[in-house]
Parts: sequence; C-alpha cells; structure tokens
Amino acid sequence: MTEDHPAFPPGFVWGTATSAYQIEGAVHENGRGPSIWDTFCRVPGAVAGGDTGDVACDHYHRFQEDLRLLAGLGVGAYRFSVAWPRVQPDGRGEPNAAGLDFYKRLLDSMRDLGITPFVTLYHWDLPQALEDRGGWRVRDTAERFADYAGIVHDALAGWEPYWITLNEPYCSSITSYAEGRHAPGAKEGHGALAAAHHLLLGHGLAVPRLRTRGGERVGITLNMSPAVPASGSPQDAAAARRQDLLVNRQFTEPVFGGAYPRDMEETFGAITDFSFRRDGDLELIGAPLDFFGLNYYYRIHAADAPYAEPDPARRTAFDIGVRHVTPEGGVISGLGWPVEPEGLRQTLTGLAARHPGLPPVYVTENGYGEHGDDLDDQGRVSYLRGHIAAVAEAVAAGVDVRGYFCWSLLDNFEWARGYAARFGLVHVDYETQARTPKASYHWLRDRIAASGTA
Ligand code: FCB
Repeated sequence: MTEDHPAFPPGFVWGTATSAYQIEGAVHENGRGPSIWDTFCRVPGAVAGGDTGDVACDHYHRFQEDLRLLAGLGVGAYRFSVAWPRVQPDGRGEPNAAGLDFYKRLLDSMRDLGITPFVTLYHWDLPQALEDRGGWRVRDTAERFADYAGIVHDALAGWEPYWITLNEPYCSSITSYAEGRHAPGAKEGHGALAAAHHLLLGHGLAVPRLRTRGGERVGITLNMSPAVPASGSPQDAAAARRQDLLVNRQFTEPVFGGAYPRDMEETFGAITDFSFRRDGDLELIGAPLDFFGLNYYYRIHAADAPYAEPDPARRTAFDIGVRHVTPEGGVISGLGWPVEPEGLRQTLTGLAARHPGLPPVYVTENGYGEHGDDLDDQGRVSYLRGHIAAVAEAVAAGVDVRGYFCWSLLDNFEWARGYAARFGLVHVDYETQARTPKASYHWLRDRIAASGTA
C-alpha cells in the first residue's frame, strides 16, 4: 500500500453515477410526460445559456456506447436514475410500458457486462402534472411516489438492483422550493419545509414497496457538507450550526435517529407551524435501511450574515443568516468549490460516530466540476486522488464504506449551470455527441485496477 494506493476491503465496489434528465434527452419519446425541469428550462434566465435537457447526451439512443465506456473503466457498478415521467407521464395511474422498456434494455446490457445496477427512483424530475397539484408541498405527492416506486420495483426487480429512493432531498426541497435555483423555482418558507418532510415521507412509504420479495437492498442518498465556522466567533459558530441543520441534520436525524433535530423549531418556528408532520410519519421515515448513499462535494465555511428578509415571518427556508466564505489559500474547483478531501473523511467518521446503527455506506457521488473542454483534466485527477484516499482513511478508522461512485461518467446537463459546467470522466461534444475519455478516465481506470478489490 502506498499513499497513492491506500487499501480497500475485498469486494469494495467502484462505480460511476448519472441521472436521467441530465443525460437521456428524448424528452418526447415513447410517451414520456413533461417534468418540472422541462418547464423550468423554459423560464427565461433560469438555466445558464438557456440550455435544456431536450437532447442532453442523447443517452437514450446511445446507451450501448456509454455502457462500453463504463465497462472500460473496470467498474463493478453503475448508478443511474429512472425518469418518473417516462413511467407515469402524469405522475399517477397505469404504467407506461414503453417508458419502462428503456430501463429493461439498459439493465439487460448491464447484466451482459456484469455491472451491478444502483437504481435511483427520484433524481429531481417530478412529473409536471404533480407540481400542478402542489408538488412536494402536498402530502399526496409522497403517496404518488410510493406508488411509482412499487411500479418500478415490480418491473425491474428481476435485475436485482440496489434501490435508492431519493437523491439529495435537500436539493429537491430547499434548493427547489426555498432558494428557487432549481425547478420549480419557488422561494418559500413553510412550503419548502413541507416539501422536505414530504420527500422523506415518500421515501418512508416507498421502502416497504421495494421490499416485497425479500433480499432487496434499499437505501437513500443524502448530500452532506460539513459546516465549518468561518472564524472563532460565537456568531459564526451559531451560523455554522444553522447551516448544518439546513443541509445535514434536517435529513440525517429523522432517517437515522427517528426524530427531527430540536433546533428546527428555533430556526424555522417563525415561518412554519410544522403542521405537515403527522403521527406515525417519523416511524416510516426512520425505518431501518440496508445501506446509506452519501454524496459529498465540498465543505461549507459559514459566517454569520444579515438575513435577506428582515421580517422573520416572511423569510424563505433558505434565508438563515449565513454567508458562505471561500477559505483563503486553499485549492478551489473550476466551479469555485473548496477542494477539501478531509471533509469527506470527516463526514464519514462523524456520521458513524453519531449514528452507531448506521448501515453500510456507499459514496454515491463525488466529483469535480469545471468550465471548458479540458481533456487533460489534472484538477479532476487530483480531486479524485485526494477523495479516494479520504475514503480509505475512513475505512481504516472503522467506517463500513462499501463503495465509491464518481460523478460523473459523462459531461452532462448540470441543472441551472446548463452544459457549461462539466463533471465527466468522458468529454461530450454536444454538437456531434462524440465521446472522448479525459485524463481522469484513464487515471481512475488504473486506480481501480491497482486497488485489487475486484
Ligand atoms: C449533485 C447532483 C448531481 C450533479 C452533481 C454535480 O448535487 O445530485 O445530479 O448535479 O451535484
């Protein structure tokens, strides 16, 4: 074992991750209905460059080529998401068989290649018809999600995937209904916190639907960013605590501790009475899981700051009196995110310490974003090297980490940043759809081969 090649346990899973709306395109094919992202992309100024996911990487038609690139990395697993609007164009009712067929073909090809599927059921593409009825603000959407999960389970369980109910409910609630940066672009207080609760409830209701055969492996993916006080002041310490609540503890505590953190009332009591919570919800949300998916990108350095809205009762749930500070002298990604692999080790060890019953962990996303067509992407190589080493340190410290998925296989539609921001191991020329592996692709392939875990 060298510093560059720290040890991983036998059977450790390597993979890459993608999501449906970011790569598939083919938004009008085979009966797919519109999602909130189709709508949001048409709002002037919402997405950089006016980009949309209409074509994206055209993965819907090129998935065989993409799976060959994936197999060339030597990975044992692939995490992708199912588009709810392909399966239920209106978000309810009978399944659309043609929509499910795409995923069956994909899974058949993965089986031929010996690649284990990790299937995410919700990676942010809510059917627009459900948003028109209130979206995640309303409890009914949680019920609809559980029905959809049951449909996908019944159709795809034969391929024995690992099931991930939700990807990053922080983003599909707070970023989407409070910050307004993601679809549907709302800026709310009560509504955004209701969305967060209903997403977790949807997860809780879906879990038993995914476990009807026995032997299924069911988990959830949360994004976590440790919040570090920007200075030694008590004000910055309090700001970091609010930030930690908003991004991390609001989600981890109910899922792994069966209760909401007590400072929810103190922080959000002026914007909501939490009337969306019902008896029995926390039992569902906190039911045991088979694994936990962690998405980690960067640490937040939090400083106390004025609230955007002076009247506490009129604030959004994103307006918590915190400013994010970029640490001086550190490495910064091409998107301005601090590169601090230490934060990944800290997240893993901290989580395991706080929740002794934590199930096995998979890092379901970790990656490096930048602008431009950088094929010799040494910034990404260095990011991956550092973060994979941080995972190995967490393993050495006793955390049960079973796998690591790089975000992402391909450059793709990076949400509000459009196509300008690139996270791929493989470059995509959006004019020609030509795929070109970058230096990081070759580096990761060699790193996986050297790990001796296969
Ligand atoms: C995560 C998302 C993923 C991708 C990466 C860069 O928050 O889950 O879809 O956009 O960030």
